Amino acid sequence: MDKLVIRGGNRLSGEVSASGAKNAVLPLMTSAILASGRSSFSNVPDLKDVRTMGRLLEHMGAAVSFGNGTLDVDTSNLNAFDAPYDLVRTMRASVLVLGPLVARMGSARVSLPGGCAIGARPINLHLKGLEKMGAKIVLEGGYVHASVSGRLRGARITFDIPTVTGTENLMMAAALADGDTIIENAACEPEVTDLADALVKMGARISGAGTPKVRITGVENLAPVTHAVIPDRIETGTFMVAAGITGGDIFIRGGRLDHLEAVAEKLREIGIVVAEAPGGVRAWANGSLGAVDIKTMPFPGFPTDMQAQLMAFLSVVSGMSVITESIFENRYMHVAELDRLGADIRVDGSVAKVRGVPSLKGADVMATDLRASASLVLAGLVANGVTTVHRIYHLDRGYDGIEKKLTALGADIRRERD
Ligand code: EPU
Repeated sequence: MDKLVIRGGNRLSGEVSASGAKNAVLPLMTSAILASGRSSFSNVPDLKDVRTMGRLLEHMGAAVSFGNGTLDVDTSNLNAFDAPYDLVRTMRASVLVLGPLVARMGSARVSLPGGCAIGARPINLHLKGLEKMGAKIVLEGGYVHASVSGRLRGARITFDIPTVTGTENLMMAAALADGDTIIENAACEPEVTDLADALVKMGARISGAGTPKVRITGVENLAPVTHAVIPDRIETGTFMVAAGITGGDIFIRGGRLDHLEAVAEKLREIGIVVAEAPGGVRAWANGSLGAVDIKTMPFPGFPTDMQAQLMAFLSVVSGMSVITESIFENRYMHVAELDRLGADIRVDGSVAKVRGVPSLKGADVMATDLRASASLVLAGLVANGVTTVHRIYHLDRGYDGIEKKLTALGADIRRERD
């Protein structure tokens, strides 16, 4: 297992390139199941989750090749329609094979993901939607078995709460169903829109993706696709915070502000300048900073995936900031670790009160999930002395070459064996 050793205090400046979005490429990879033949994706980030998804597709009989940001998935010879526990437990996004498998093969057996470090994360809404489309769902031995004889049929589905992977799973299933499907209260995240764009290229008939009402008219067959993955808005946002927390100036090439308005607004409220620049986004510190209140919400609200990073920043901004996490019930595992670095954060239920301190002091800390890891790295960049972030395999699930990118911006950070 690796650790990151960071000597804090350097001001970060310069240019960094945004990688392709993790949460866009994972559903895109499973969408390849919907059509026989070779689909090809470009701007693919080199992440552990991408490799895990590749292994899962290979387990099903797909041929997967990945190099230089291009990933090909050939689904001509699929022969196993299951996602085993060992793969699903390391990556919840494995559940994204469920919709495509039932739609194209008529059967899927997927391990139930169970809880994780950030909350219970059930998939009941995915299953309810598939049932409405005519699938028979049986839960047994920790697995969900979904099957249908003939084609799924179009249905009207209204989510209790917008779910990102739920919307993606049902959109993919509906693309091959018989008739019209309408998903109400759908997730509007840019990754959902990117998937819809790729499905439309494959021959799907989808309108309204990116709004709460998506309409899909099923077709009998889809064709393989060539598609470029959108840039990672959470990685871009993390670098924007890196500029803010170190008093620096970073240009993120390829970053898209239209995917990050809520984050940009909060950073501006704190006192950071965030602006569109030719070919990307630029964020820089400019004068005094002030506390803000943040509540995580589905897109276009403030993303839960940026909560931990903003908390690290606010822990060194004078005044009291109040953060409310409304998406996941247990997404404050980083608080105790930030407090080890000298932050003053108190959690009461879903609310965290962050009292800004003048400085943090380096210490050993433990990463518990992907975004928590990013917040500890950000805190380490500004803490006095050395911060060692242990268990960074979480970080490798979602950030492509983060220590290389930070080093190029002037950070003193190195990876070591733990
Ligand atoms: N929910 C249910 N039932 C369901 C599905 C969801 O109650 O059947 C609840 C969840 O427990 C949660 C809320 O609905 O309280 C929203 O969860 P959602 O389903 O939208 O989350 P997800 O699809 O499992 C994706 C991202 C997460 C990101 C969330 C929220 C992928 C692969 N993952 O998860 O990304 O935090 O949406 O935006 O797209 C990350 O990248 O670090 C990450 C955790």
